[in-house]
Amino acid sequence: MQLVHTIAEMRVVRRELPTDKSIGFVPTMGYLHEGHLSLVKASNDNCDITIVSIYVNPSQFGPNEDLSSYPRDLERDLHLLSQYRVDYVFFPTNEQIYPPNYKTWVEVEGLSGILCGASRPGHFRGVATIVLKLVNIVKPDHIFMGSKDFQQVKVLQTMLRDLNLESRIVACPIVREADGLAMSSRNSYLDPAQRQRALCLSQAIKLVQQATASGERDATKLQQIAEEHCSQYGQVDYIQIVDSENLQPLKQVDSSSRIIMAVFIDRVRLIDNAALGE
Ligand code: PAF
Repeated sequence: MQLVHTIAEMRVVRRELPTDKSIGFVPTMGYLHEGHLSLVKASNDNCDITIVSIYVNPSQFGPNEDLSSYPRDLERDLHLLSQYRVDYVFFPTNEQIYPPNYKTWVEVEGLSGILCGASRPGHFRGVATIVLKLVNIVKPDHIFMGSKDFQQVKVLQTMLRDLNLESRIVACPIVREADGLAMSSRNSYLDPAQRQRALCLSQAIKLVQQATASGERDATKLQQIAEEHCSQYGQVDYIQIVDSENLQPLKQVDSSSRIIMAVFIDRVRLIDNAALGE
C-alpha cells in the first residue's frame, strides 16, 4: 500500500500503471467503516488495481454543517485498509485541491436541487466538483460507491454521462449494522440513546415495505406510515417515494419505486433508502 500525498505524485503513479490493468477507485472522506470496506472489497474482486482516496471535501459542507467536527482518524483508516489489497491511498490537501483563485464548479441541474439537495444547498455542487477532479487525476475504469447515498450516485452518474467521461460508477449495496442502522461515519456522533432512536429510519423502511407487500400502492399513505414512525424519534427532513431512475415523486408505487429519507436525530442528520415493490 503506497501513500500518495500530492496530485503531481498521483499523476505520475497513474501514468506508470500498466495499460492492460483495470483500475478501481473508492473515493472516501475517511473515518472508514464496513460500508467503505465493502467498496474496497468490490474493487478488489472486480479490478486489478485499487486506489482509495481520503479527503474531507470542504465544498460539500454548508456553512452551518459539520465540516470542523467531521470525524477524522487517518491512522485507523490506514490500518483498516491494510487488511485489503489497496495499491494506493491518495490524500491530497485542501491547498492542492482548492488553490487560491479556484474558480470552477460542476452543477448537475435538477437532480442536485431536490431531496438532500433542497435541504443542503450547494452540497451536490461540491460533491460533483470534487469527484470530477479526483476522476481526472486518478482516471479509474470503475468508481465504487455506496447506495446509502443514492442521490449522490444518481448525480454523479449523470455528470459522468453528460461530460463524456469513461469511468463508470458501480453502486454497491448498503451495509447495515445487525439491528438495521445503515453504516455511516456520522453514526459516531450518536450517543447510546440517540443510536437507539436512529433505528427509526430502517424500521420505517421495513414498515413501508410490509405495507407495500400487503398491497398498499398509494405513495402518500406509505409516506405517512414512515413519517408517523420517524417523527416519534426524530425530526423528519424529508421522506419521499420516488422513481429509482429520475428521483421524481410518485403517486403510486410500482416495481421501480424507492423510499428515500433524511431524518434528524437531534443535530445528527441521517439518510437511508430502499427499493419497494420488488
Ligand atoms: O460519499 C462521500 O464520502 C463523499 O461525498 C465523496 C464521494 C467521497 C466526495 O467527497
